[in-house]
Amino acid sequence: MTFLYEVKNLDFNYQLEGIQFQALKKVNLKVSAGDVMTFAGPSGSGKSTLLNLMGLMEETSNDMIFYNGNCMGSMGNEDKNNIRRFDIGFIFQSFHLFPVLTAYENIEFFLIRQGVDEKKRKELIQESMEVLGISDLQNKRPTQLSGGQRQRVAIARALAKRPKVIIADEPTASLDQKNGEAVVDHLFGINKKFGTTIIVASHDPMVLRHSPKIINLIDGEIQKESL
Ligand SMILES: Nc1ncnc2c1ncn2[C@@H]1O[C@H](COP(=O)(O)OP(=O)(O)O)[C@@H](O)[C@H]1O
Ligand SMILES: [Mg+2]
Repeated sequence: MTFLYEVKNLDFNYQLEGIQFQALKKVNLKVSAGDVMTFAGPSGSGKSTLLNLMGLMEETSNDMIFYNGNCMGSMGNEDKNNIRRFDIGFIFQSFHLFPVLTAYENIEFFLIRQGVDEKKRKELIQESMEVLGISDLQNKRPTQLSGGQRQRVAIARALAKRPKVIIADEPTASLDQKNGEAVVDHLFGINKKFGTTIIVASHDPMVLRHSPKIINLIDGEIQKESL
C-alpha cells in the first residue's frame, strides 16, 4: 500500500547565527489518503516546521519525506511546484488573503494559476462557497469580513483547488470559540464530503476535542503512545 505521506526518521535543524537548533527529531509517521490527523503539542514543539516540510513550504531537500511513494528530496522543481499547485491546499492562522481582492477573486486566484477555464472556475468557486456557507460574501474584501468569515474564505480557496490534502496550521488561533468551532466543523466536513486528507496543527483544546486522531509532538519528538 502506498501512503500519501510517509515520514521516515526525519531530523530538521534551523541555523541561527551559526548555532544549530534541532526542531524535529527522528519523526516517523504515515498518512493515508483520506485521513484526518491533528498534530498537537505546546508552542515551539515543531508542529509548524513539520507542516511546512510536508507542504513543501520550506526550500529544503525533504529527503525523509515520501509523497505518494516518491521521495520529495529527489523531485525536480516542476514536480514540487505541481504538488504545491494542484495537490496541497494550505491554511494559515492569519488567513493570508489578498487584501485588494474580493472573496471571490481570492478563491479564484490559485485556480487561474492552475489554468482552469473561467466556466469551470465559477463552478468550483460557487460550490466551495456554498460548502463553507459564504456565498453571500463573494463581493466583500477581507477588511469587510470578520475573522471567522476570512478563515472560511481561506478554506474555500484551499477547497476550490480540490486538493488531495488540506494542511491547516493553527486554523482557529485567531478566532473566538464559536467561529473556531464553525471553522473546524467545515474543515473536517470537507473530509467527509470530498474525502480530502486533512492535516492540522493546533494546541486549541476545542480542535483536539473534534479531532479523530491526535499525534503529540514535544520538543520535536513524536510521543510514541500517540501513534
Ligand atoms: N526560522 C526559524 N529559525 C530558527 N528557529 C526556528 C525557526 N522557526 C522555528 N524555529 C524554532 O523551532 C522550534 C519549533 O518551532 P515551530 O515549528 O514553529 O513550533 P510550533 O509550531 O509547534 O509552535 C521552536 O523552538 C522555534 O523557536
Ligand atoms: Mg506553529
